[in-house]
Amino acid sequence: MIKYRLLFLSLIIISTSFFVASCATSLIPTISSEHIKYANERWGNINSSDLIAAREKYIQTCSGCHSLPLITDHDEKKWTELINDMTKEINLPDADKEIIQKYVFTILNTYDKSK
Ligand code: HEC
Repeated sequence: MIKYRLLFLSLIIISTSFFVASCATSLIPTISSEHIKYANERWGNINSSDLIAAREKYIQTCSGCHSLPLITDHDEKKWTELINDMTKEINLPDADKEIIQKYVFTILNTYDKSK
């Protein structure tokens, strides 16, 4: 009996962790060719390593005080304000702010709303 209970318990734990993992990655999508295409059309001259670095910078900077927010929760105007407000206290250089903004805007504008 104990054996079955343990098996059941581990199944719950395994399925929960899959669920948590899938949620976490959807907050910070990895860079795809669609993202690169979007960023290039909008800003020009931006390659995959720029966007990968932008994502890293976003994760590193914005997970310091709280968990990472859901990018699709805010529009561009609100994101601009948020990034400014949030980085005031930590004196983030303008170049870092700009690259974080590019990552956030790219994700925001390539997000499939039908999903
Ligand atoms: C120095 C600590 C700190 C850092 C670093 C930080 N935040 Fe925050 N953040 C806070 C605090 C405190 C709050 C809650 C109070 C508030 O809303 O001002 C918050 C709240 C938020 C909210 C929710 C606000 C709302 O109106 O729903 C978002 C979104 C957010 N942060 C995004 C970011 C982003 C993006 C970054 C990286 C650029 C970042 N934060 C970095 C301290 C920080």
